[in-house]
This record gives sequence, structure tokens and C-alpha cells, in this order.
Amino acid sequence: MEDSSHQTLTYFGELLARRLSRRDFVATGSVAAAVAGALPAVASASNSSLSHQRVFKSVGPTREDRVLLSPGLRHDVLIGWGDPLFKDDPGLTSRDIRSIDWLDARAAAKQEKRFGTNNDALAFFVSPKKRSSGVLCVNHEYVVPELSFAGFSKDREAWVRAHPEAVAWMQAAHGVSVLDLERGLRGWRVVRGGPSTRRITANTPMQIMGPARGDTLLQTNADPSGTTVLGTFANCAGGKTPWGTYLTAEENIQDYFGGARSWAESSADDATKLAYRRWPLRERSAFGWDLIDKRFDVRREPREALRHGWIVEIDPLEPSSIPKKRTALGRFCHEGANTILTADGRVAAYMGDDTKFEYVYKFVTRDRFNPKDRAANLDLLDHGTLYVARFDAEGRGEWLPLVHDENGLLNSRNGFRSQAEVVIKCRAAADILGATPMDRPEDVEPSPITGRVYMALTKNGDRAIRRGDFMGREINLGPNFANPRPQNDFGHIVELIEDNDDASSKRFSWNVFLLAGDPRNASAKFLSQAEQVLPGRLAREDVFYGGFTDRSQVSPIACPDNLGFDPTGRLWIVTDADEELIGNNGCFVVPTSGPDRGLLKQIMSAPVGAEVCGCEFTPDGTTLFLSIQHPGEGGTVDNPVSHWPDGQELPARSAVIAISRDDGSPL
Ligand code: FEO
Ligand code: CA
Ligand code: CA
Ligand code: CA
Repeated sequence: MEDSSHQTLTYFGELLARRLSRRDFVATGSVAAAVAGALPAVASASNSSLSHQRVFKSVGPTREDRVLLSPGLRHDVLIGWGDPLFKDDPGLTSRDIRSIDWLDARAAAKQEKRFGTNNDALAFFVSPKKRSSGVLCVNHEYVVPELSFAGFSKDREAWVRAHPEAVAWMQAAHGVSVLDLERGLRGWRVVRGGPSTRRITANTPMQIMGPARGDTLLQTNADPSGTTVLGTFANCAGGKTPWGTYLTAEENIQDYFGGARSWAESSADDATKLAYRRWPLRERSAFGWDLIDKRFDVRREPREALRHGWIVEIDPLEPSSIPKKRTALGRFCHEGANTILTADGRVAAYMGDDTKFEYVYKFVTRDRFNPKDRAANLDLLDHGTLYVARFDAEGRGEWLPLVHDENGLLNSRNGFRSQAEVVIKCRAAADILGATPMDRPEDVEPSPITGRVYMALTKNGDRAIRRGDFMGREINLGPNFANPRPQNDFGHIVELIEDNDDASSKRFSWNVFLLAGDPRNASAKFLSQAEQVLPGRLAREDVFYGGFTDRSQVSPIACPDNLGFDPTGRLWIVTDADEELIGNNGCFVVPTSGPDRGLLKQIMSAPVGAEVCGCEFTPDGTTLFLSIQHPGEGGTVDNPVSHWPDGQELPARSAVIAISRDDGSPL
């Protein structure tokens, strides 16, 4: 039987409390327009917990093959690829994977009960009655074959054909793990086979919900109703709702389908082809699933790919619940979805489309969140308005509604016969509305304290391309006000302030909060708040740290990816950069308010080859969960370049770590 204390979650209560505190905190007028070149409005830190920042001593950049932490911090490895989620399973160890013998006909069935590969997003839900226990949801984004299969050959197709059982195994290693956690004297540990423990894979049945449910474009041979789909994969970042469910984001789904070009050449199905126009598929897939499983061969199932690329909602407390794809939130390379309440108690979700020149989105529910009735909220994400962002000069911007037949644009004449087609062909609809092409939007996250929204634009080296041709329209792909670097190898973070401090506003102010890079570089210009950040005028190396003026105090940083907030409102950033730029990836913290706004410190350096994901705090702020994804990338199982976390010359494995202070106090 389930522990009934798991049935309600405190997350919505926290959100409400924080909503109140931020309305007290943001002084009237402090959200004035952030004019390019003028001082961005910064609320003074009236809240003492914000002004009293504990400053970390920086760690890194390094190239060491281990987790390095600022003094006073410690970490535990919570769980890694192959570890058992249930009792009586020895799991798959880094010793086992030194040979390929483990990959047999039973490997997929075993993997369905074990922690998956390449853990990414993390979402922690605390149990209200027992604060020492909780549930952690973890995405498994993809498989790096070189880091999983001994003897993997560069000819991927030939290798998959010789090891057909690898496809079912890879499908089982994708998706989501739902873990029960318990905190003891020695920190958090996974409770194997706890009441919420669950694995969701690329083959778990899911419901398609919202405006695209049942649409012709989502109908397949296996599902003529267009309502039920198997699985989720390519799940990158995520989020959670005020009612305590998990949102997992389907990102690079185009890598999983093959045969698209030959299908397009021979097919007369123009409606389906139009749906692929802004999201081209490939002839050869990245992982060879199409060679073994016809669902991934576009020639056999031309519409299967349209059933992926959505936000999926999972109830972590009900292991038997059916995950739901929420089509109202649009279809694109979803990085994540981060929610906050609007002034009138509805829910806004902020989202990025992580591809060069793609857009930032917001969804606002039609109906209000009901904090007293969890069940009443469970389908809130099916009704509401999806918006895409246009960033204008002078630090202003507008949320453009992606609504069928509104403004005389998103109608049949332009290729949208219904709202279903608007959400399925979301990118093309956003093109037509004139959204601003961004430098690969990753996490877009509202501060639970101030309501300000931070978006990680991870990088884009192609801004030199001046013109695009999407859906027959010309779109300027040169630098713009919100993406000012012609050559943005280090990425940046934009701060967005909704009008009236209300997440349902249609207009907003914005400013550049961080231009990432290496301030130690002598040729880097360390920009002050008074210096204009104008499109096209910045060198690749120039940096800006939220107006902080002392370059010797801040850490170098490259390619911000996931973002998070601790309970005091500091912004936490993890990175996914080429190690050549600065060094190993890591975790950073920066105040967004007060005199230390922009004082960015690196608190963790990751093992060789890893990107860092997650940034998830326990509500008391004492534990920070991070994902160490693909340590050892660039090497192979046979020739590892990382041995983390098991050491002893063993191949590396992705894993989740829990960081805390030595004395157990909040970070
Ligand atoms: Fe999977 Fe956008 O990183
Ligand atoms: Ca990511
Ligand atoms: Ca996040
Ligand atoms: Ca990334």
C-alpha cells in the first residue's frame, strides 16, 4: 500500500508563499523598462535573506577528472546508469560494461527496472508529513553508444544490424526514472522499490491531450485514433507544476527517425510533408532504431514523429498513472517547462526551443490553479494560450499569441486549418508572427522570489548568416537586440520582467543579464552597466556580469544550459560547453538582486567530458541535486577518458549527485 502522506505535496504551498513574498519584495516601479544601455531596474533587496548572501570561494576552471567543490561543500553520488531501482537486482556495473556480453535478449527487460542513461532534468517533490523523504524524477535523455557498448564501431548502421537487441535496450534506457528518496544521517539515499518507484521508457503508453489530440496528422497505423502514443525519448530538461506533477521535455526527437528523405520524395501526402517543413527529418537516424523498429522508419509510419516533441506530464505519486502529452504547449525541441502563478492564480509555463535561431515560448492556462483540490488541476495544461516572444529594441518585448485564425495570420491560407495544426507546426506559426530568433534557448526559468524570468541562450556560432528562408518568409538571422553577438560561442542569459510583475502579461521588459566568457582573457572587454550592448558590435570574447564591476571577483563561464533557484532567490547555472573554451563544465551561483548582482562564482567542476544538468534544490535549501551527464564523452568504453564515478580505471557512467554543506546548513 502507498503511504498516504505521499498523496499531497507541499510544492503548491511553497509557490503561493513565494508568490506573496515576491509581491512584497518587488517595489512598485522597480520593473521599469530596461532601456538598452541604461541601468536595468534592479529591485533593492529589502528581504534580508537576499541581501545576506554567503559568497563561495570559486573552484575551477579545471580539467580534473572528478567532482571538485568550493570549500565547505561535500557531495554524494546518489545513483548512476545501470543501478537497480528495485530489490533483488545486482544491476549493471561499470565492470560489466567493459565487455559487450551483457547485451543479450534479456538486456532490455532488465534495463526497464534500472536507472537509465544520460540523466538530465531533476525534479524533487518533498513529502509534507515526512520532510526526510521525497520523490526525485530524472530524465534519461539519450544514449552515447561509444560510452555504453564495448567494441562499438563508427559504422553505426552496421553495428546496430549486428546487435539488433541494442535497439530495445536503448529504448528501455531512455525516458524517466521516478525514485523514492530518504534522508538519513549520511544524506539522501534511494529507497529501492519504494511506493512511487517507476521507470518510464520509449515504449510506455501515453495519452495525447489538448488541441492536437485525435488530429489527422497524429494518426498512425498502430493508432488510427491519434490519441495514444508509445513512449517519450530525448527528454532534456523539465519542470514541475504547482500541483506537484513532473513536466518532461522532448527535445531532439529528429535524431530518432530515419528514411525521411526517401519518404518525402515518393509520398503525395502534402499535409504531412508541410508539418515537417520547419523540422526536417533525416534519411539516416542517429541511433539506428528505424533499422529494427518500423515505428521509427518514416516511410512506414510517416506521422509517428509528429507525436513526439511535446511536453509530457507525469504524476510522480501514482506509479500506475498514464503520462500525458500536453499538446497545448506546442511542438518543438522542448528544453523544459518552468511554471509560476499569474497574479490572478492561473499558471504560466516558460519554455525554450533549443535549436539555433529558434524561439522562447510561454503558455498561460485558461483556468485558475486550485490549491485545495489537487485533482481539479490535473488537466489544467490542456486549455490556455500559447505565446511566442518578440524582443524589441529599447528593452521592450511582446508575447505573440499562437491562436488559430487570430490576427488573420494563422489560418488555412498560411497552412493552419485548426489550433491542432498551429501547435503541431508551432515553429512555422511563430515565424509568421515575427518572433525573435534566439541563440539556442535552453532553460527559461522564473524566479520564485521576484517573478523575473531568466533564459539561458547557450550558444550560436552562426549569427553571421544574414537571411533565412522559412516558410517562404525572409527572417533576419543576424545579431538582434536580445542576441547581440555575431559570434556567440560562450552564450548569454537574458532577464525578462513581465509588465505589472504578472506572468500573464502580454508585454515585458528585458535586459542582458550575463554575457558569458572568460574575464581573465586580456582581450575581453569587461562591460559595465552603462555600456551599450548593441547588436553586432560585440567581440566574441567580450563579457558582461549583470553590471558587477570587478572582473577579478567573477568566475569564467561558458554555455549556460539549465537554471535553478535556491529558496533565497539566487540563480544557479549549470553548463554544457566544449571543454576547449574554458575547462570542464560546472555549476555556478549568482545573485540577481542587491549589491552583489552579477557576482558569479563557480562552486563545482565536473569530471572530464561531462555536461552538468539539473540544479534542483530541496525546499529547505540544504541539498542541491545535479546531473552529471555523459562523463567521458570523447572517449569510449574501451578507451575511457573519464573513470568517474567508480574510478579504478573503469569506464565512466552518468550519475546524479547530491551537494550539501559540511555542516548541513542551507547552501
Ligand atoms: Fe538537451 Fe538543450 O540540451
Ligand atoms: Ca539541456
Ligand atoms: Ca531548471
Ligand atoms: Ca545543451
